[in-house]
Amino acid sequence: MSTTTQRPHAVIYDTDPGVDDAMALYYALAHPDIELLGVTTTFGNVTVDQAATNALYLLALAGRADIPVTRGAAAPLVKHAEAPPAHIHGADGLGNLPQRQRFDNRLDPRSSAQFIVDMARARPGEITLVPVGPLGNLALALEIEPRLPQLLRAVVLMGGAVLEPGNVSPVAEANIWNDPHAADRVFCAGFPLTMVGLDVTHQVILPVALFAEMAAHHQHPAMHTLHHAVDFYAGFYSGLYPHVAQIHGCFGHDVLAFVALTDPQLFEYESGAVRVAVDGLAQGQTMLRRKTISYPQSGWEGPASRACMQVQAQACKDLIKTTLMRDWIRP
Ligand code: RIB
Ligand code: CA
Repeated sequence: MSTTTQRPHAVIYDTDPGVDDAMALYYALAHPDIELLGVTTTFGNVTVDQAATNALYLLALAGRADIPVTRGAAAPLVKHAEAPPAHIHGADGLGNLPQRQRFDNRLDPRSSAQFIVDMARARPGEITLVPVGPLGNLALALEIEPRLPQLLRAVVLMGGAVLEPGNVSPVAEANIWNDPHAADRVFCAGFPLTMVGLDVTHQVILPVALFAEMAAHHQHPAMHTLHHAVDFYAGFYSGLYPHVAQIHGCFGHDVLAFVALTDPQLFEYESGAVRVAVDGLAQGQTMLRRKTISYPQSGWEGPASRACMQVQAQACKDLIKTTLMRDWIRP
């Protein structure tokens, strides 16, 4: 874990909760170097209304109803919306919870895009945005405030794939595929951008037993809820990947975006312009310009992003456990 002498990372978390989104939210709340300023929601794993409800619920469960939540993009910018993957995250996005406690926190009335812009203008150069769903909120925020790449401290997003096969098609990762036009605008905008894609998230398998251990340790509804959700979610991944089934685990995709923020030394990177195929069979493919030669074809001159290509998987798993086992849940 990075030293606590560094200034905390002031973060807006842009999410489509979603089970691995829930893991990542609780990691962010538990980590001493992260100050969570707000949660902006989007369609993706669930509808945007369900995403907003889940964000409010997960925060209330953890005693953090003080953190603002906004409702954002309900559909892709251009392409038609697909049905949410209920077979992966459950119809409710949290593994079809058998019951839910009452919660009183309500949405901030602003859109997710407006919230991002307002916060970035209020605290220029201080805020890191961590998007872990389709990128419509950030693309819309960029339309409202074209100076956003200079106003945000950084963008660390979960999405994309450089060499690793995709998970929605042989070349496309779900978040990018869900809104390729928004993603291409984000990658071309000049944000200080780190892409945490399948190249690294597929290297880190989190056993369900880890979440059972953490739930037993905390004996708190928040961690029991997370354990239930992860058990459902792991059923999908165990059915798809034999090596994941061997340890009855799952990929904690979104958590790695926060690990890359707090512990960048655990990753290896490649930098270059990233473009996104926006239609056709390759739609959703993130294409990293890996060589600096001059190409006859134009369109590759854009700003460089940094893509995570390798991760110290065991150190990453150890950090996730150490962080979530801390005494972080508020009464
Ligand atoms: O491809 C994995 C990504 O898509 C994760 O963010 C997961 O939550 C889904 O949104
Ligand atoms: Ca997500």
